Amino acid sequence: MEEDKQMTDFCLKVPKVELHAHINGSISEATMEKLMHKKPHLNVQHSMTMIKKGQQRSLEECFEMFKVIHQLTDCEESIVMVTKDVIREFHQDGVKYLELRSTPREEKSTGLTRRSYVDAVLSAIRQSKEELPGIDVRFLLAIDRRNGPAVAMETVKLAEEHLLSSGALVLGLDMSGDPSVGHGRDFLPVLEYAKKAGLKLALHLSEIPSQTEETRILMDLPPDRIGHGTFLHPDVGGSQEIVDLIIHHQTPIELCLTSNVKGKTVATYDQHHFRFWYGRGHPCIICTDDKGVFATDLSQEYHIAADTFNLSKEDLWNISYRSIDCIFLPEGEKRQLRGEWDKLKGSLLNSNK
Ligand code: IMP
Ligand code: ZN
Repeated sequence: MEEDKQMTDFCLKVPKVELHAHINGSISEATMEKLMHKKPHLNVQHSMTMIKKGQQRSLEECFEMFKVIHQLTDCEESIVMVTKDVIREFHQDGVKYLELRSTPREEKSTGLTRRSYVDAVLSAIRQSKEELPGIDVRFLLAIDRRNGPAVAMETVKLAEEHLLSSGALVLGLDMSGDPSVGHGRDFLPVLEYAKKAGLKLALHLSEIPSQTEETRILMDLPPDRIGHGTFLHPDVGGSQEIVDLIIHHQTPIELCLTSNVKGKTVATYDQHHFRFWYGRGHPCIICTDDKGVFATDLSQEYHIAADTFNLSKEDLWNISYRSIDCIFLPEGEKRQLRGEWDKLKGSLLNSNK
């Protein structure tokens, strides 16, 4: 019991890097409450936006939840509010470097455009920078595969423009959305264009079993990081050739334990593919994916990883430290972050045996 409390304390205090967090999936219960108050006529209940402990939903049901959440965040003001709240909560959870991602969305009824959506997120990041020193926040524009390659190109152009004008707040792109919709092949030209423009790519790959061919095609880019990668390895119907390619490129994998268990793509924590990749010494980052929808936070995910895979505090420290290698900033800034981590190491690992 005492040991467990110490581990909880350590997981909170250890400086952490969060690289896979969708803004609208990361909205806490408290922020959701504020949003519901603004739109009581929608009659949204917490069970429609959040999966509690011990509960599970299919991936399809999760995507229905995002539709409900999007109805609550359909104007610039709410995007600024939720983004600031999400940043503050990650900060409180001991996150020192955060790459948020979100899909620029247009909403005719409120005048929200993809451009004003991006401006709202960037404005929230800039405001948070003033109010919360100690957390470095960057932004990846998300391509929702459901919207097809033409909208994806619009998103890439917006990202390209902001890559140059945002003072390095925009670093790249995510590709996400319902994996059963569309085919990655159709996005290849758009993603190639993005890569040439200097945008970093974090792609959700092999989140469901039927995506091996798509992953093979998209690995030609190659992406700079992989989200989930649940069905990459041969034990779950993936392909050794792809695994070898990922190891060859040393492409980091963003692993989201609770998201996969609650979304039912992984049966139990114990069977999570963290074991496969971490066991091979591959670059792995522990992430939350959607801390609001899946009712978790990053320190809890570290704790679950420790309990499930028998990791020590030193192991967790190393996972966090090595995550810095995988961020989308240049080496000089990575070095600075490592310096911040180094300063904390001695006191954290010694006082918390
Ligand atoms: P937003 O982009 O900030 O609106 O965050 C919600 C969106 O992120 C959803 O509509 C999906 O497109 C995407 N998303 C969140 N979680 C997942 C996931 O596990 N797989 C694929 N897409 C996801
Ligand atoms: Zn995701």
